Amino acid sequence: MPTGPSVYYDESAMRSLVQDGGHRRIVGGLWEEMGSLQLNQLIARGMVPGDRLLDVGCGSLRLGRLACAYLDPGHYWGTDISPDLVETGYQQEILSAGLQNRLPRTNLVIDAEFGFAGLPTSFDFIMAQSVFTHLSLNHMRLCFANLAGHLTGPCKAYFTIFMPVAGVRPAQPSAQKDGVVSWSYKDPFHYEWDDIRHAFRGLPWHLSLIGDWAHPRNQMLVEAVLGNDASRMDHRGPA
Ligand SMILES: C[S@@+](CC[C@H](N)C(=O)[O-])C[C@H]1O[C@@H](n2cnc3c(N)ncnc32)[C@H](O)[C@@H]1O
Repeated sequence: MPTGPSVYYDESAMRSLVQDGGHRRIVGGLWEEMGSLQLNQLIARGMVPGDRLLDVGCGSLRLGRLACAYLDPGHYWGTDISPDLVETGYQQEILSAGLQNRLPRTNLVIDAEFGFAGLPTSFDFIMAQSVFTHLSLNHMRLCFANLAGHLTGPCKAYFTIFMPVAGVRPAQPSAQKDGVVSWSYKDPFHYEWDDIRHAFRGLPWHLSLIGDWAHPRNQMLVEAVLGNDASRMDHRGPA
């Protein structure tokens, strides 16, 4: 019986799925490729070691183990719904690599409702990779509304979405890459650009569709900027 929009909401299923290296599979596998793709994208968009990064839906630290080694000690934070994913990721990817001095365990927070309680109020960059592909637009709106209320300074956020592939009606299933099929009404979700703009309506984020960023399963990248430039609230369309 599903307990939420995706398997990540099912705590007992997650407990067994993370066993025996499953913590890498359950976030999508492609461990090295997807970790590097995210870190390199953030660096290409201006992230430097002194910046502070929040990884929303950090999972088992596919990005986290690379980002905490690149950033100054303590400058990486992660949130996730799954205690088992986060704990297994910390044990097997951070402690076993001797990275505990770069990533305090307290920087990893269990947060299922995008509340961000207890986290710093200032981040230079946010990444939410393959998180909203498993969630509704309401979750996306909740996340960015709460972030806008929580953050006190400028911030650049990046998140990924599936979009219906060209020539396929959005209500139909869409064949993405690597055998993934996305849906308008169930996990993994796809969204049109107008759906994303709707989810951000009235929020102080300046949205841009970056699009293809060489994601192996065809997830598209979106930029949302909070700060002086974002106060215009004009949501740009596809670049
Ligand atoms: C496909 S994995 C991606 C993990 C990570 N971003 C990466 O690229 O390795 C999706 C992640 O979103 C998390 N997630 C799903 N629903 C969530 C929610 N409501 N709040 C926080 N995290 C959530 C899952 O637990 C999982 O770690």
